Amino acid sequence: MQAEAINFENFDHIQDEVCAQRIETAKHILGKRLVILSHHYQRADVYRHANLTGDSLKLAYQAAQTDADYLVFCGVHFMAEVADILSSDEQIVILPDMAAGCSMADMANLAKVERAWRDLAEIFSPEENVTPVTYINSAADLKAFCGEHGGIVCTSSNAGKILEWSFQQREKVLFFPDQHLGRWSGHKLGISLDEMVVWDFDEPMGGLTPEQIKQAKILLWKGHCSVHQMFQPQHILRFRNQHPDGIVISHPECSFEVCSASDYVGSTEYIIKTITDAKEGTRWLVGTELNLVSRIAEEFKAQNKIIQFMSPLVCMCSTMARIDPQHLTWALENLVNGRIVNRIQVPKDEAELAKLALERMLAIS
Ligand code: 13P
Ligand code: SF4
Repeated sequence: MQAEAINFENFDHIQDEVCAQRIETAKHILGKRLVILSHHYQRADVYRHANLTGDSLKLAYQAAQTDADYLVFCGVHFMAEVADILSSDEQIVILPDMAAGCSMADMANLAKVERAWRDLAEIFSPEENVTPVTYINSAADLKAFCGEHGGIVCTSSNAGKILEWSFQQREKVLFFPDQHLGRWSGHKLGISLDEMVVWDFDEPMGGLTPEQIKQAKILLWKGHCSVHQMFQPQHILRFRNQHPDGIVISHPECSFEVCSASDYVGSTEYIIKTITDAKEGTRWLVGTELNLVSRIAEEFKAQNKIIQFMSPLVCMCSTMARIDPQHLTWALENLVNGRIVNRIQVPKDEAELAKLALERMLAIS
């Protein structure tokens, strides 16, 4: 039987530098049994302890490939769920703070997606006409829904390819929860804005007429990321006026107007790679989460690259920031003492169906 876990209250007030030492000590003791995965948005004082870093897609591959006993996930809840689904039954996935969620993922839930599916069934057979596509930023039961209904998962780095696959299966796509990623990816495939309609999940029939639904190619769930919606086209305009040689790069969770006004659009991994590969002395305006932008701004100073954050306001993923050095220390020291705290475990039947949708994605990516 597992010994009783050490309470988090004992860790809340430990200073960051002390946590840093204790984290490294715990890593050393746990050795190869432990792997710490970190998303690029993670705060610097957590990110520095990671063994593996990446965007959502890369982290999913890494979680599927590691043979460590413990996967401590410094990211948000849906990422840890994906790690649990793709790792073996014996491996244990831990999210150091259960409050690290994703507000966009919370904008879709199974009851509302099932209601949309039933509404669509009043017009045509969704099983024959619609591929459900869920952004990886969603709960495991929505991935399971996609697995069960011939659908698939996508991330911000493969959404275009996934849409192509989806249209090979059926003529329409129901894309949730991020309307912006869906719209931008559809646009890049040559689908007109008129053929992409917003499905308002609080309205009967998504707030659309049967005619609008019949003529649409993509039904875009009315979800968004509260961090990325802060970036505005006028931020880009101001930058271009001040720095005509500057380059603009954005995450596809930004609005269509921001993506259209950018020179490059792509996932966090793509953003890092594009700036890494750029010439020395270039100046960048970056439209994504603040922790990532601040970190690369520091890193690229040595190459004389100037990196600016797109918004004058602070746009942080506050839920990602819930994973702090204190919670990481707590989770690791419990492991050292043979106790497992904050395990993420997707129910087996749900995990099997979700895995189907994730594996379809991994095969295509
Ligand atoms: P990435 O696919 O770039 O990791 O993005 C995930 C995310 O949540 C961005 O807000
Ligand atoms: Fe979710 Fe937005 Fe945070 Fe990404 S930045 S994890 S989409 S809330």
